[in-house]
Amino acid sequence: MRHEFLLSWNALLLAGPEQGWPLQPLLSPQVITNCLSVFCSETVPKWVHEVIRPIAAELEFFMPQPFAGEILGLCKALGISLGDGVLLNFAYESTAFCTSIVAQDDKGNIYHGRNLDYDFVDILSKITIDVQFIKSGQIAYQGTTFLGYVGLWTGQSPHKFTISGDEREGGRWWENAIAAFLNRNYPVSWLVRDTLSRAEDFQSAVLRLAGIPIIAEVYYIVGGVSPKEGMVITRNRRGPADLWPLDPLGGAWFRVETNYDHWTTPPPLDDRRTPAIKALNATGQQNINFDTLFQVRLLNSTSCNTVYTTVMSAAFPDKYRTRIRTVK
Ligand SMILES: *[C@@H]1O[C@H](CO)[C@@H](O)[C@H](O)[C@H]1NC(C)=O
Ligand SMILES: *[C@@H]1O[C@H](CO)[C@@H](O)[C@H](O)[C@H]1NC(C)=O
Repeated sequence: MRHEFLLSWNALLLAGPEQGWPLQPLLSPQVITNCLSVFCSETVPKWVHEVIRPIAAELEFFMPQPFAGEILGLCKALGISLGDGVLLNFAYESTAFCTSIVAQDDKGNIYHGRNLDYDFVDILSKITIDVQFIKSGQIAYQGTTFLGYVGLWTGQSPHKFTISGDEREGGRWWENAIAAFLNRNYPVSWLVRDTLSRAEDFQSAVLRLAGIPIIAEVYYIVGGVSPKEGMVITRNRRGPADLWPLDPLGGAWFRVETNYDHWTTPPPLDDRRTPAIKALNATGQQNINFDTLFQVRLLNSTSCNTVYTTVMSAAFPDKYRTRIRTVK
């Protein structure tokens, strides 16, 4: 039986990150710590543990705020070492298989959907949370993430823009990532959060996401609030490799990005792109909305690796919705 639930969590992180992240009351710290240590030891190569742990105390100097303060607070709350807290935050840097869709309906509304698929569904679905970042009593931005992880792969700045990130390179990327991190490049999910907290509108979000150096290659998918505000950014570490905007007047009312460059053909064994395009074609521009985007075959997939699905539209921030999937 399929079972859907969502853990909601208002994190008042901007109020004082070092106070520690409030722990999800449904889970004991023990359960969380066990989940995290299994996950971390299986996803981060051993040599990275050996490089990071001894220099953990100095890592604070490499990490910008608010990330450093939050990782410190997290370590205190969970009773783990700073080195482990940092490793944990690297563990999710490869987000495995994802699908993101940005689409414009025939009235000019922009919708944005994403699936996040990962091997460790059982663990991750337990610790997936929606977080809201409050500033002066208002939601400054919000997103979906994993407990203990200070970056965001999915998020929304109300009435401004939405962002999702999809992994671009698999395999042997750790060497370059650690080198880039020690060179003070941002982890890719930190740039998402940084952009949500700083960028004033769709254009400036695209500029930041395209230009700021990061530790790994990635696709950033961005949706705005006005017609034509949709973009897939293909990133190298140093800057943009390609910008692929919506072109509704030219008939391109949606863009689908999985984990392959859009100008190449995806491998037949992992073609999640064609089914998504077929489903969107079948849905039609006049029928696209929050519900139909959820229904799009891929975002409705029975893949047992889907951790969560989010649909969002910056113009309708209250409709931000995440479904966590677990197979029981
Ligand atoms: C989707 O529709 C477009 C425009 O009609 C067409 O060019 C494209 O081949 C269709 N793609 C699929 C996968 O059905
Ligand atoms: C999506 O899932 C629901 C519930 O399982 C099902 O009723 C519906 O037909 C599915 N939609 C598509 C397009 O596969």
